[in-house]
Amino acid sequence: MKFFIDTANLDQIREAQDLGVLDGVTTNPSLMAKEGITGRNNILKHYVDICNIVDGDVSAEVIATDFKGMIKEGEELAELHPQIVVKVPMIKEGVKAIKYFTDHGIRTNCTLVFSAGQALLAAKAGATYVSPFIGRLDDISTDGLELIADIRLIYDNYGFETQILAASIRHTMHVINCAKIGADVMTGPLSSIEGLLKHPLTDSGLKQFLEDYKKGN
Ligand code: G3P
Repeated sequence: MKFFIDTANLDQIREAQDLGVLDGVTTNPSLMAKEGITGRNNILKHYVDICNIVDGDVSAEVIATDFKGMIKEGEELAELHPQIVVKVPMIKEGVKAIKYFTDHGIRTNCTLVFSAGQALLAAKAGATYVSPFIGRLDDISTDGLELIADIRLIYDNYGFETQILAASIRHTMHVINCAKIGADVMTGPLSSIEGLLKHPLTDSGLKQFLEDYKKGN
């Protein structure tokens, strides 16, 4: 299972990279705005800065919602760095754009996916990644994990190579349950990755070991 961090915060990206388990980064316009990164040139530069910190794929989202605009922006993003994956929303023009990018060797991440039907379309168009937002489904009392399981079943039925990127992860149990179902990738905040470290028995056990060592030395 690949671990991506879902942030545009360079310090958090460095921290996850230092842990040695980071496989990539996802961002979106809201995450960029949260870091105060505004204006096309600053946003493009920020993507390059992120690519220079991590080794893996970095999703960079198009803003245009028409086919021509998405192609223009996506080609510009893909030119920035070989690690860039163009993030395209699940709308009609987006499906066409994903197919175009696939045919032209540009990797894509189909975002804002909330149903198995949308995930099937993304795979048919050749998306590299599909991003079902599980936390946002949970927010409206719909089981986000059930969607991951449905997409896994459908993709396995037909051997689709599109990778399931479980997005809108909120906590460690999302990560663990996505791993049980077989999501290819998870993207979440740093806390959802570091939270996997924690267990009170690890802390108390280590404390005891160190105390016992001190008694004998
Ligand atoms: O990767 C998708 C993500 O950025 C959305 O997360 O927490 O805003 O639902 P959230």
